[in-house]
Amino acid sequence: MKIERNVALKPFNTFGINKVASHFAAVNTEKELLDAIRYAKSHRLPLFILGGGSNILLTRDIDGLVVRIDLLGIEVIKENPKEVFVEVGAGVVWHDFVLHAISQGWGGIENLSLIPGTVGASPMQNIGAYGVELKETFYELRAIALDSLEKHVFDKETCDFGYRDSIFKRKAKGKYIITSVTFRLSKTPTFNVEYGDIQRTLEAHGVRQLSLNAISKAIIEIRQSKLPDPKKIGNAGSFFKNPVLPQDKFKDLQRTFPNIPGYPQPDGVKIPAAWLIEQAGWKGKRFGNVGGHPNQPLVLVNFGNAEGEELLILSEEISKDILRKYGVTLQREVNVI
Ligand code: EPU
Repeated sequence: MKIERNVALKPFNTFGINKVASHFAAVNTEKELLDAIRYAKSHRLPLFILGGGSNILLTRDIDGLVVRIDLLGIEVIKENPKEVFVEVGAGVVWHDFVLHAISQGWGGIENLSLIPGTVGASPMQNIGAYGVELKETFYELRAIALDSLEKHVFDKETCDFGYRDSIFKRKAKGKYIITSVTFRLSKTPTFNVEYGDIQRTLEAHGVRQLSLNAISKAIIEIRQSKLPDPKKIGNAGSFFKNPVLPQDKFKDLQRTFPNIPGYPQPDGVKIPAAWLIEQAGWKGKRFGNVGGHPNQPLVLVNFGNAEGEELLILSEEISKDILRKYGVTLQREVNVI
């Protein structure tokens, strides 16, 4: 394992923010990962784990060891006539795994096509899109505990998944490094095409017979039409989570704003943060290097050479305005460093 010094992090975060890591290591094996953790401990360097860098906003240089997880591999560990259990290295690019599953005829993650990031980061925030969440196909994951360096297996229950949430954002935060994730995929898929524009896009494509591939293609088209490509314009997907309000708070808001959309959840009513942000006048607004994306106001973008601080300030201005206008607190989905 090679430790590099003073590494520019711009290529390693999808916002394209140019901060510097004092120490940097890319690890390809579990042994290299353990060596990197030991190095950080012995040199008293804080450790920062990087997957695809698609959910972070860097607002400062990092005086510490940034470890990029490049653990690869996709392996069937067991199967039966209906299902396949596939263990996937944490460093595998999420969309590459989705395409692999589709090519093998394994169903369950096709609606999650084109989500940026790596497999190792996917359980942390229980990635979700177009009516499907990761937890539905999650089986278990393997992780290394940072304090003891012991290996742990987390089953679905222990991960305690919620909307954009898991134990790794709460009491296990910063304590483990995920090394692989095992998924339980279906050999006889049921298709989920209820959400939003999927049906319409499938019809436009002339699809008569549903297939994993046809659904994936439709999702890719929908995403590309709404969400900016991080390779062309820096962004980290949704900057905020959609707030879930208690029923009575939602009713109050509805009295003042009769058009506010709301989706009932077990614990309240989920409202689209995109709606609040658009109604408050922030959609497509540009302030120098940063702004809200014209097609999806939940996505903040770096138009050029933005500093992380500029994006953070914009997000705080938006949050304050939403709180003032609607009495709703927006929570960040992106991790700010
Ligand atoms: N809306 C507006 N104006 C807009 C866009 C949307 O008012 O310009 C309102 C509309 O009421 C619309 C609703 O927001 O019906 C929902 O919009 P959309 O289907 O685009 O989804 P979202 O709730 O804004 C979530 C995820 C996305 C995911 C989509 C599709 C979160 C925080 N975001 O966005 O995930 O792709 O659903 O399932 O839950 C991500 O996490 O990075 C991400 C892109």
